[in-house]
Amino acid sequence: MSGIILAIESSCDETSAAVVKNGAVLSNIVSTQEIHQKYGGVVPELASRAHQKNILPVVNEALTEANINKSDLDAIAFTKGPGLLGALLVGASFAKGMAMALKKPLIGVNHMQAHILAHFIDAPQPNFPFLCLTVSGGHTQLVVVKSPLEMEVIGETIDDAVGEAFDKTAKIMGLDYPGGPFIDKFAKEGDPTKFKFPNVNIPDYNFSFSGIKTAFLNFMRKETQKDPDFVEKNKADLCASIQFTLISILMKKLKKAAKELNIKEIGIAGGVSANSGLRNTLLEEGKKLGWNVFIPEFEHCTDNAAMIAIAAHYQYEGEDFEALSTSPNPRMKFTGSK
Ligand code: KG4
Ligand code: ZN
Repeated sequence: MSGIILAIESSCDETSAAVVKNGAVLSNIVSTQEIHQKYGGVVPELASRAHQKNILPVVNEALTEANINKSDLDAIAFTKGPGLLGALLVGASFAKGMAMALKKPLIGVNHMQAHILAHFIDAPQPNFPFLCLTVSGGHTQLVVVKSPLEMEVIGETIDDAVGEAFDKTAKIMGLDYPGGPFIDKFAKEGDPTKFKFPNVNIPDYNFSFSGIKTAFLNFMRKETQKDPDFVEKNKADLCASIQFTLISILMKKLKKAAKELNIKEIGIAGGVSANSGLRNTLLEEGKKLGWNVFIPEFEHCTDNAAMIAIAAHYQYEGEDFEALSTSPNPRMKFTGSK
């Protein structure tokens, strides 16, 4: 069973809508909320209000670009979780209203599962089972993907997400929010071995990033006391060194899992997979280790509705629908098969 699905993403600070037809993405409109920049992080209340304002024009644009009428739609999908409750509610309520008015089924998508399924928007696509490192502003997970709807989280962060570590260390250096892309940019000119930060040993396939953030803060306090221009003078080396440390932590666990589980189909997903250092390291290491490496297009790494649409496509095929009484789940778990 294939069809035409409208998908809505509103879990954080991107309002996005996409249309998928028989598994092919016809449109993907993303409206990024600039308002959070001046606060140095996402302000949940402002995110909800911006979603309210943006959702109708974004949905209309997605339908127009796809050349699809509302009456052509076979289902409406939305991000059910995880994410900010107020933000999720805007997308969920809008999707419910449309599903009710059009008398079409409603599909609730797990945002983290959708990040992984972004690999199935374009070719080439991984074979199953594949191992995916999902790295975003809220999550860091190692996932064994057995099929589009069957995934097992084998490891995750025990504290901060790696995206948070990028953003918080960037904030300490006085960079704008979100800081990940700025660190990526400045790191290109820097020496990754100039400064050393601790890489704590966490058991199994789990990660920890809160220690490195604190170590970075303490180091910066000490250095800026000695020289107030320390950041300006060392920005590129600081960015390269912190990025190198964060990538090393991720790669260590990815390599351990790939070896122990004997999986050579390897992918990355989520906003941090837009990082050029991580992408290059993965390609280089993958070549040495004989991996088939899969990296989604830039536009499908950070939050977008195309990934929600592709996840919804598989759920539609499996007739995995939601009742109209459903509500979003900010802590939606990603427990094995969905
Ligand atoms: O997946 P995403 O768009 O939203 C969440 O679901 O969290 O990920 C956002 C995160 C932010 O922490 C942002 O700084 C990070 O992805 N990010 C990057 C890059 N682009 C986005 N981190 C490092 N380098 C980048 N180029
Ligand atoms: Zn995300």
